[in-house]
Amino acid sequence: MPPKKEKTEADLLKEKNQQLQTLMKERFFTNPAFDLYGGKAGLHDLGPVMAPLFHNVIQEWRRHFVFHDNLQEIDATVITPSRVLEVSGHVEKFNDMKIKEKTTGELYRADKLIEELCDKALNPKQPLDPQLKEKYTIMKNEADSMSADQMKATIEELVKVTGDKRQFEDPAPFNLMFSTQIGPTGDDPAYLRPEIAQGMFMNFKACYEELNHRMPFGIAQFGKAFRNEIAPKGGLFRLREFQLAEFEYFYDPQQTTHSNLSLVKDVVVLMLTREMQEKGIEVPLEMTIEQAHTTNNPETGKPYVENQILAYYLGRTQLFLEKVGLRKEKIRFRQHLRKQMAHYARDCWDGEALSLTGWQEIVGIADRSAYDLEAHSRGTNTQLVAKRDLPEPIQKTVLVPVSKVIGQTFKQKAKPVQSYLNSLDEAGVLALKQQIETNQKATITISEGEQIELSPAMLEFKVETVREEDYIPFVVEPSYGISRILFSIIDQNFWTRPSDQNRRVISFPATLAPKQVLIQPLSVKSQKQLEICHSIEASLKHFSRLIDTGGASVGKKYARADEIGMPFGITVDGTSETDNTATLRERDSSQQVRLPITEIPKVLKKLVKGSANWETIVSQYGLVPTAEAKE
Ligand code: ATP
Ligand code: GLY
Repeated sequence: MPPKKEKTEADLLKEKNQQLQTLMKERFFTNPAFDLYGGKAGLHDLGPVMAPLFHNVIQEWRRHFVFHDNLQEIDATVITPSRVLEVSGHVEKFNDMKIKEKTTGELYRADKLIEELCDKALNPKQPLDPQLKEKYTIMKNEADSMSADQMKATIEELVKVTGDKRQFEDPAPFNLMFSTQIGPTGDDPAYLRPEIAQGMFMNFKACYEELNHRMPFGIAQFGKAFRNEIAPKGGLFRLREFQLAEFEYFYDPQQTTHSNLSLVKDVVVLMLTREMQEKGIEVPLEMTIEQAHTTNNPETGKPYVENQILAYYLGRTQLFLEKVGLRKEKIRFRQHLRKQMAHYARDCWDGEALSLTGWQEIVGIADRSAYDLEAHSRGTNTQLVAKRDLPEPIQKTVLVPVSKVIGQTFKQKAKPVQSYLNSLDEAGVLALKQQIETNQKATITISEGEQIELSPAMLEFKVETVREEDYIPFVVEPSYGISRILFSIIDQNFWTRPSDQNRRVISFPATLAPKQVLIQPLSVKSQKQLEICHSIEASLKHFSRLIDTGGASVGKKYARADEIGMPFGITVDGTSETDNTATLRERDSSQQVRLPITEIPKVLKKLVKGSANWETIVSQYGLVPTAEAKE
């Protein structure tokens, strides 16, 4: 018989991934939406494991960011008028490149196709020349920043190199937004929001006023976003309807320090800079947040992360991802290449998680500068500004519109005229003053595009002493792809017991576990044991729990509990009937202690809140042998 071929690491990862996919299907983690009707790619329902996991992760996100940093929480609408997304640039630019295979008609996202072909080119049958390795790695890194022509040429080259049989048409842009209509007329177009950020910009002014003009501040929300992805493969990683949690942190560009930076200065992060990717370097730099914003990147002569607010949120994001169960060594931050950045961004770092199928973006932290507030200020003739103290008071010409005359003259149009006049900065006021003094009239263009003539009676100019000036705040936007984070948590915490590869475990952190504790009798035939189980259950109303009085063996029930990541299990047995104790088992070690039933709620609370770990409980009560070990 020929010797059995050794499995490669890639084979093992593939197998493990297959095992995880099977588990997720068997235990209804998710289901294709509308499965009864054949399902729809990119649409998935969450089942009883993932729906509670989602809520627990969101709750942790709110605690970690919203409460910790005192952010203003809002809940804006999904349906967004077309005009808003025209002004924000999404109607023109929120595109991916699609490309069609000539024979099958299958559509691909062009950058993903390039990545796939690069992977193929990087793994040829013969050893690869190091220069070619570097070339294809750089190509892969740059795939989503290429122009249509570059994509076309790159795909042609890669198809030749890899001997791929597919033939492609030219790449073309495709807008990812789902469109809809508001109302019955058919002439009020809208979109489902493709990101949740615009809702925060729309409410900037109201939040700033609510905070009594205090800067800096953040607005946060979570909710669904919708993108008509070209080729939604990859399960929960590429959905057409997915969960995001985001905040916009507004700050004065003259004040880029963050008062809490010292809280994260020692947090260690793995960083892959833009320059490293341009050279095909794949091993990230390990540094503390303090080093990231105080040491210079030798390639640029500037700190790795110049903006302290961005640095602060890189650190807080690392802590959050670790808290929800991702592994330090499986999280890294990758800086966007210049051409790769979204139309609104100045600098951007993606948080990536290593899954069984490779590194995947799960978070985006972008410095959007003043892009959005500026655009919406212009688009609406409204001043979306904050105020800062001037070093010295100055004299300034201000305009006071004469509302009565404007109202009488323009009737319904008085409002846009007023808001145009209110939006003028000092240069605009002076230009208007000059026009009216020279010509005894002035012409303005209001937001509807209409030209309006003003007379001197409508305008008063005054010189005032001012102590403050207006500025458009800059914004740092950390955006958490919650759907991808949920899947990464499951993926990175999935393992099988070395004693039996069929025993599958998911080590959710106890705080997040969809079900925290299993309660079961050793003998389902014992009325007394069942009664005790129910009374324990009644004392654990603050925990998510499952009482299992089915006929399977103790070990089988624990195995099922492990599969959905239940961290603790309580078994009531013959001894419980006489001395009012029960056993408490910990999932990862399969160890158990015996303790008085009355102490269970207190002990579980400590374990779930993290104020005691399992070792402490073991040293307090001592280990006892398990029945499951004998099964
Ligand atoms: P990609 O390049 O993978 O399409 P992106 O760079 O367009 O993603 P962003 O616009 O930065 O993504 O979106 C912010 C976050 O939203 C991402 O970090 C990711 O976690 C999540 N996200 C984006 N698209 C999807 C999707 N189709 N399904 C699930 N999550 C998504
Ligand atoms: N107390 C349950 C067991 O022994 O496994």
